[in-house]
Amino acid sequence: MLKSILITGGAGFIGSHVVRRFVKNHPDYLIVNADKLTYAGNLENLADIENYNNYRFEKIDIVDKKSVLSLFEKYRFEGVIHLAAESHVDRSIESPDDFVMTNVVGTVNLLNATLASWNSDMNNKLFYHVSTDEVYGTLGKEGYFTEKTPYDPKSPYSASKASSDHFVRAYFNTYKLPVIISNCSNNYGPNQFPEKLIPLMINNIRNNKPLPVYGKGENVRDWLYVEDHAAAIDLIFHKGKPGETYNIGGDNEWKNIDLVKFLCKIMDKKLGRSEGTSEKLITFVTDRPGHDFRYSINSSKLKKELGWKPSVTFSEGLEKTVDWYLENSRWLENVVSGEYEKYYEKMYLNRNRIG
Ligand code: NAD
Ligand code: DAU
Repeated sequence: MLKSILITGGAGFIGSHVVRRFVKNHPDYLIVNADKLTYAGNLENLADIENYNNYRFEKIDIVDKKSVLSLFEKYRFEGVIHLAAESHVDRSIESPDDFVMTNVVGTVNLLNATLASWNSDMNNKLFYHVSTDEVYGTLGKEGYFTEKTPYDPKSPYSASKASSDHFVRAYFNTYKLPVIISNCSNNYGPNQFPEKLIPLMINNIRNNKPLPVYGKGENVRDWLYVEDHAAAIDLIFHKGKPGETYNIGGDNEWKNIDLVKFLCKIMDKKLGRSEGTSEKLITFVTDRPGHDFRYSINSSKLKKELGWKPSVTFSEGLEKTVDWYLENSRWLENVVSGEYEKYYEKMYLNRNRIG
């Protein structure tokens, strides 16, 4: 009998890398990918593994309590890896309600279904909640986030993720549900929806469109290649201690403006443009309201206790990412069509140019 493991949000960016890794590396698991297929969910991301015997897809909205309960009845899961979420900060500023519903209510629905299903025997079971470094708030020029940093979320997105983290911990304390949380820094890599900084810039450079840098581009993010995040999740799921939190980061801080210039340089080479051509597309636009200044993650606990380390350098990861987007222009065109076009026009045509 295969052990049933539920992965939520498996059709999204990080989820699809996690699902692929688990389906291929753990043939003794039946991996059930439950996803609502919002604008960010795309089954094309998993076309290469959709016919594997140990993979199933279920179209489910985690906000719908009844569907979640029947999913648990159908598969009798022994493990849960929860990634489904509304994940984009700018969208959370436009419509916070969706974030409360999916990220908070959806997580509580999953916790309740898990508890009901495991109540009589919690041995060798685990509810793994995938969270973000944004719950810790924002840093100045110095310092970093550790697992002990107090929560101080600043955006509707991070507030909803912080709330879901608190519920997960509350179920550990109150009901002894075996849980683990990891808080990761900014991911990049293949299959990321082009509303996020790196794929948005790649897409715009490719199409000779303006590159909208918020404010002065001084904000700092700590970037990690998505497959290294998936590897950390695999390790923590198997070797992590219930009740614990693990921070995951790339030790790789970049000011947005420097990162965009670096991308322009890589893409000028790949597209056969003379150096400096794409940089001319950089346009400074109105800042994101409440824009967190800097994130920096200290992942020494994960490194020391479980032996994790990132496998690719930023240059290697960015090269791979750019190559993937250039080779998969059909994927990009498909996801950029329709609703996203409308969103893009709303977000960027209304943003004032400031430089
Ligand atoms: P994503 O937006 O690319 O994918 C989210 C997935 O969740 C999509 O497939 C979507 O269809 C699904 N989903 C959304 N609402 C749902 C609902 N109500 N029911 C079922 N499925 C639903 O997100 P991502 O960037 O892959 O992030 C995945 C997780 O990792 C999120 O929990 C996010 O908070 C966390 N995280 C992301 C990053 C990052 O840099 N992207 C970093 C740290 C943590
Ligand atoms: O830190 C982890 C978080 O990283 C995840 O929890 C979120 O799900 C993920 O979206 C990401 O959040 P950010 O807000 O940091 O990512 P985003 O790609 O939206 O923005 C990265 C930085 O680039 C941020 O400082 C805002 C800036 N930016 C973003 C966009 C989309 C721009 O300057 N221009 C843009 O067009």
